[in-house]
Amino acid sequence: TGFTADRLLLFGATGDLSQRMLLPSLCALHADELIDPDLKIIGTARSDMSDHEFRNFAREALEKYLPAERRGGLAGFLNRLSYQQLDATQLAGYDELAKKVGEPKQGLAIFLSTAPSLFEPTIKGLQHAGLDGAHVRMCLEKPLGTDLGSSCEINDAVSAAFPEDRIFRIDHYLGKETVQNLLALRFANIMFEPIWNAAHIDHVQITVAETVGLEGRVAFYDDAGALRDMVQNHMLQLLALVAMEPPGSFDATAVRDEKVKVLRALRQVATGETVTGQYRAGAIGGKAVPGYDEELGKASDTETFVAIKVHVDNWRWKGVPFYLRTGKRLPQRVTEIVVQFRFVPHSIFAGKGATMQPNRLVIGIQPEENITLSLMSKVPGLDREGIRLRQVPLDISMPDAFVGQHRRIAYERLLLDLIEGDQTLFVRRDEVEAQWRWIDVIRAGWRAEGLAPKPYTAGSWGPSAAIALAERDGVSWHE
Ligand code: BG6
Repeated sequence: TGFTADRLLLFGATGDLSQRMLLPSLCALHADELIDPDLKIIGTARSDMSDHEFRNFAREALEKYLPAERRGGLAGFLNRLSYQQLDATQLAGYDELAKKVGEPKQGLAIFLSTAPSLFEPTIKGLQHAGLDGAHVRMCLEKPLGTDLGSSCEINDAVSAAFPEDRIFRIDHYLGKETVQNLLALRFANIMFEPIWNAAHIDHVQITVAETVGLEGRVAFYDDAGALRDMVQNHMLQLLALVAMEPPGSFDATAVRDEKVKVLRALRQVATGETVTGQYRAGAIGGKAVPGYDEELGKASDTETFVAIKVHVDNWRWKGVPFYLRTGKRLPQRVTEIVVQFRFVPHSIFAGKGATMQPNRLVIGIQPEENITLSLMSKVPGLDREGIRLRQVPLDISMPDAFVGQHRRIAYERLLLDLIEGDQTLFVRRDEVEAQWRWIDVIRAGWRAEGLAPKPYTAGSWGPSAAIALAERDGVSWHE
């Protein structure tokens, strides 16, 4: 689209995401001089605040959520901020808002970090006040609906005012360096792509484990559950990046065209290929934690854990299962992708010590950013009984490989791309809808069978049925 935004209008400016991620990311971009000195940031929300009060509010958030060494030029950053109170459901307020935004020299980026129920009235208000011209880009935070139908409604409402090439849908996993590195690993090296297929890969595991519980998001989470909160978006995006064909270039259309093909090739999953769980009181890292129903204050059927076995029905992945699992209150926070290769076709080594194990690539997304390839190796020694073999890791630690680089917040990348108009790391409408279409079938299956989540103890790896789901294929989850 060729223009850089010099105004950023932030809806939900006093909210949790704004305090923890958006303001810190913007401040870090400012400190690194990555954003134009002219960029002005206008916050809006329901509370009544002056510019001065909003700057103080932002300062407090930054002191809490951004490390001191990344707060360079804090005063200059705060000077970019101003604030306009707004009831998003009342058309009248948008004229004042437009005045506050003023005339951007180039472009206006609007970030909606509000309840999705406010998206529609907000779009109407923006149109009413003329904040919808060709120079405006619209960025949407999740959740984008609760099923295909509601997601289409949101998409329709937004696309009534903005064409797709100006809509930026966030999946913050795409902003993570390690997630982008998946593409570098696959497509900037010659050695993986030729074996990245059913002939050489036995199965793939994707784990997104969290130790946190509800974190006070009681109403939101209990309506959503793990499937919609984590699988519909983040895990399917990871899967798509692992499984997609090489795009012709690293541009928004090429990359998203390939991802959507994977999402559309996902086989519909039968209930028997899913396991759901809900945590009970237990302990994590030696600390006692309450059960989900205690945190919630009532009994509930919402799943806090889900494991799924799925196939990608295309040539490349014929017969290769993808095992996905995610949950709250698991023993450790870890996001990783495991690519398990097949056995060598024939072993030339005989003897007791020569047991073969297939190669395995483990891509650590967080908290450890590392890539480990396990290789078979000869154990040193002069054994009479023939060569002894053992698996050894070839290990790359990203922080060690790139000393002096600080870890960035995923939103730094995404906000910068929004300001500069690059959609590559944002989710296109057809992707979101393919994701929901697949999720809806699973939920319909659960409803039809009246499936209730199985209890698991907080601090365990979920219900034992999740282990069985993999084990019946002779697969064990990587730990
Ligand atoms: C969010 C979910 O999208 O992702 C949360 O709503 C979850 O429930 C979070 O905790 C995980 O993000 P990250 O970046 O900490 O892995």
